[in-house]
Amino acid sequence: MDLAVNLRPDLPRLTDGERLWSDLMAMAKIGALAHGGCCRLSLTDEDRQARDLFVRWAREAGCEVRVDPFGNIFATRAGRSADAAHVLVGSHLDTQPHGGRFDGVLGVLAGLEVVRALNAAGIETEHAVTVVNWTNEEGVRFSPGLTGSGGFVGAIRAYDTAAVTGVDGVPFYPELHRIGYGGAARLTSRLAGYYELHIEQGPVLEGAGATIGIVEGIQGVRWLAVELAGEDRHAGTTPAADRRDAFMAAARLAIDARAAALALDRDFRITFGRVGVEPGSINTVPGRVTMSVDLRHSDVDLLDRVEKEIVEAVAALAGSEGTRGTVTRAMDVAPVRFDAAMQDNIEASASGLGIASQRLPSGAMHDASNLARIAPSAMIFVPSRGGISHNESEWTDPAQVADGCEVLARAVLRHATG
Ligand code: GLV
Ligand code: MN
Ligand code: MN
Ligand code: MN
Repeated sequence: MDLAVNLRPDLPRLTDGERLWSDLMAMAKIGALAHGGCCRLSLTDEDRQARDLFVRWAREAGCEVRVDPFGNIFATRAGRSADAAHVLVGSHLDTQPHGGRFDGVLGVLAGLEVVRALNAAGIETEHAVTVVNWTNEEGVRFSPGLTGSGGFVGAIRAYDTAAVTGVDGVPFYPELHRIGYGGAARLTSRLAGYYELHIEQGPVLEGAGATIGIVEGIQGVRWLAVELAGEDRHAGTTPAADRRDAFMAAARLAIDARAAALALDRDFRITFGRVGVEPGSINTVPGRVTMSVDLRHSDVDLLDRVEKEIVEAVAALAGSEGTRGTVTRAMDVAPVRFDAAMQDNIEASASGLGIASQRLPSGAMHDASNLARIAPSAMIFVPSRGGISHNESEWTDPAQVADGCEVLARAVLRHATG
């Protein structure tokens, strides 16, 4: 990318914020929930409907649409030079079970708005611009998350995914084919860069009064699966000394692991988001617990130390609670730092528009973590009201959405021109 490519200082806004907002609200009707949010778990019928709508809009915008074996959808606006590397722009259309209207969707639909804006302005770019929807970013139904981008960069291999079964017992590939998105057309072009516009999902930008976040990097994420085995026994007759209560073991583990993590760094994030207690009977001492652990930090050494503490704590539960346990690593995403020239490019776009920006790290994981392994990558954040996300009440003001998209468009245009 040649940052010497200067956009005219009086360049009028390229993108149409109202059109983008109306697309976001139309997409939010798919899998709509009672309190304003969405549920579009990966590879469900709702995910299919969202994909179909995106593909229809992309074709209407003149894009060539390709679907790869991981179900990633690539919508390409050709550049002047057929061999020039593509500028990739995107995010994900799948959501959390109680997801909001913006997480992921914004980055995909803003990419499409950039394409429409370039069409409307009659701008030809040297590089093709490809808008991408990555499969299963969230990792709720199928673990690990970031599946599509992981497959694209070679971090997840097809045969790993073949073994993956959803929490509802449905295997990944048959479900991908059922919804009609098991493709064979890979995007083989070289990549000039990857841009992802996303809501911040935290409180920093709102607190600073900035509309645009220039993301410096993403902290590391590690997912563990813990299984604890005790013994099913009668709740009324079994004395305390005879119990091997897997839930009590899990509770002790969670409290102790949190204390250990926060003792290392108050900024360490540790979450036990999914706990299964079996047999799930009100009057039986539970004999089995499965639990997920989500660990986040930008220092891999600290992630290693907390994982080790958890493995040791699970072993120690044999003495204190009489349970046996296993800990399995389900995902490991290394921390990344984004491309410096692309961060500067985003900053130039924001300042050219007179929009306040701020540099910040990302606490959430994104497909950009994977893309950064193979191509120069960067992310743009817009504020999340109250710092709230993974919640139906997730909100970003229409004007901030429009600003984020315009900053994206100018950064992409500069990159695709140079
Ligand atoms: C998903 O959005 C995550 O950050 O885990
Ligand atoms: Mn997201
Ligand atoms: Mn998310
Ligand atoms: Mn995410």
